[in-house]
Amino acid sequence: MRVLICKDEASAIARAADHIAEHMAQRSDCVLGLATGGTMLPLYRRLIRLHADGLSFASVTTFNLDEYIGLAPDHPASYHSYMRKALFDHVDVDPSRTHLPRGDAADPVAEAADYEARIARSGGISLQLLGVGRNGHIGFNEPTSSLASPTRIKTLTESTRRANQPYFGSDETPPGYAITMGVGTILSARECLLLATGSAKANAVAAMVEGPVAAVCPASALQMHARTTVVLDRDAATEMKLTDYYHHVHPDGEATRFD
Ligand code: F6R
Repeated sequence: MRVLICKDEASAIARAADHIAEHMAQRSDCVLGLATGGTMLPLYRRLIRLHADGLSFASVTTFNLDEYIGLAPDHPASYHSYMRKALFDHVDVDPSRTHLPRGDAADPVAEAADYEARIARSGGISLQLLGVGRNGHIGFNEPTSSLASPTRIKTLTESTRRANQPYFGSDETPPGYAITMGVGTILSARECLLLATGSAKANAVAAMVEGPVAAVCPASALQMHARTTVVLDRDAATEMKLTDYYHHVHPDGEATRFD
């Protein structure tokens, strides 16, 4: 794992955005795996600014990690809506190349299998963007998810539903189930980029980077991926033990030639 510790949130966002922009510039067949959540909002704002400066999404294909079961794409708290508001409506991405699982599919099990097949048909994800939950989830792969799992339905933990309550109206609670890319789906991306900021993520980050590879922390499976970059601010890095080493290898979170 390449662990980049940036001095603050703004630098971490800039580092992650530059990484994505460089990836897009290097590949004509770029397939981005996208994430949602609070951490990603400033990153998408930064990508929109880069777009204003010339970064084109016209030939990019995207696949989001997950969607709540029961929410139609036009539900304000759906991840379809999130992505339109946060990114898609502000860049030149071709809407027909953007993909999210349909939370309102009549047969969510079939929808999950079809989503996995669509990812494979696209040639696979070239760069998967990830956040991490306080409980160590990636996508909606909650603790004890199989580390080889494909896209499927997962039951959300109460803590995840509470964390996502702010996106819902006061008279609504987040759905209990989601369709999510599996840990196995994520590991089959050619490259992963995980962004975590703020002290609330410090324990999950330490377990992910330095803990054992264990289903109880699904993000720890990234230790088995040959090309994963973890971009952190200092607050998210406080619970790791080897921070001096990460600073030595990557001063100020610079992506130096050797890890
Ligand atoms: C959602 C997703 C989740 C979030 C995670 C962190 O698409 O991938 O794994 O990345 O729940 O969410 P925030 O950033 O809101 O703390």
